[in-house]
Amino acid sequence: MNLSVQLAPRRGLVLANPVMTASGTSGYGTEEGHLFDIQKLGAFVCKGTTPESREGNPQPRIVETTGGVLNSIGWENIGVDALIRDKAPVWAKWQVPVIVNIAGETIDDYAQVAGRLDGVAGISALEVNISCPNVKAGGAAFGADPDTAAQVTAAVRKSSSLPVLVKLTPNTSDIAEVALAVAGAGADALTLINTLKGMAIDINGRRPLLGNITGGLSGPALKPVALQAVYEVAGRVDIPIIGCGGISTTNDALEFIMAGASAVQVGTASFANPYAPLDVLEGIVQFMEKEGIQDITEIIGVARK
Ligand SMILES: Cc1cc2nc3c(=O)[nH]c(=O)nc-3n(C[C@H](O)[C@H](O)[C@H](O)COP(=O)(O)O)c2cc1C
Repeated sequence: MNLSVQLAPRRGLVLANPVMTASGTSGYGTEEGHLFDIQKLGAFVCKGTTPESREGNPQPRIVETTGGVLNSIGWENIGVDALIRDKAPVWAKWQVPVIVNIAGETIDDYAQVAGRLDGVAGISALEVNISCPNVKAGGAAFGADPDTAAQVTAAVRKSSSLPVLVKLTPNTSDIAEVALAVAGAGADALTLINTLKGMAIDINGRRPLLGNITGGLSGPALKPVALQAVYEVAGRVDIPIIGCGGISTTNDALEFIMAGASAVQVGTASFANPYAPLDVLEGIVQFMEKEGIQDITEIIGVARK
C-alpha cells in the first residue's frame, strides 16, 4: 500500500503519509508530553514564527464554543533566531519533515524570516501564514486580498529555496481568486484553511470573553467551510492542496482527500484527543485495506470526478 504524497512537485516535498499537525496546536513538537511518536506522521508543522519573539495577545485567549474553539493567541512564539538555535538542531535528527509556519506584520518580515530559514538543517518547507485573524497588522489582512497575498508569496519565494506552502483565510470574498494569485506568484502548495473570525460574549460580565475581543474559530464547526474551500479551489489551481479545518476523525480526513486535498492537517482535535493525528492516519490505512485501495492518490479528488 502506498500512502506517500508529493506536496511540491517542482522542488520536492514527499511525505510518507498524508497526515500532518496544524500549526499552533502542537507547539514545536519538542516539548515534553507528546503522547505519540511524531515521526509516524507525514509532516510536523510548528507554531507561527516571526522575526522577533512575541508574547501574543492579552488573556483570555481560548474560549470553547458550540462545536469548536475560539482562539486569539496572536503569534506568541520564540522568534526565528531562537528557533534556529534551539529547535532546528532537534528536528534535524528527526525522520519526519518539519514545516515552519512563518508570519509577520510586513512583507519584509515574511521575507526576512524566510531568508533566515533558508538552508537551515532540519527544516523541509515553509508554510506562509497570511491568514491569522488575531493580529492588528499582517496575517489575514494580507491573505484577504489577491494582490497582497501574491506579493507576500513572491517575496518569500525570492528569499528561500525551500518549498513554499501558503495558508489561506476563509475571511475573504473569493478564496479561489486569492488561491490563483498565490499559485501564480510561486507557491508550491496551498493550506486551506486557517480559522474563521468570530467572538463570544460573557453575558454576566457584559464583556467579550476574549481579551482580544475577537478570535479565530476552529474545530468541527469549521469543517464544512474548510471542505467547501478545498473542493472549490481544487477545481481552479493545479498545485497540491492541504486540507485543514475541523478534521477530527478518519472520515473527516477522507472527505477532504476526496474533495481534492493531497494531505490533511489535524489541529483542535488534538486538544480533546492527543492521539487524533495518529488515529486519523491509522483509520486511513484501515479504510484503504477495506476498500482495496493500493495508492492514496487513487482517492485524491475522487469526489470531483
Ligand atoms: C491555539 C491555536 C493556535 C494556532 N496558531 C496558528 C499559527 O501560529 N499559525 C497558523 O497558521 N495557524 C494557527 N492556528 C490555526 C490552525 O493551524 C488551523 O488552521 C485551524 O485551527 C483550523 O484547523 P483545526 O480545526 O483542525 O484546528 C492555530 C489554531 C489554534 C486553535
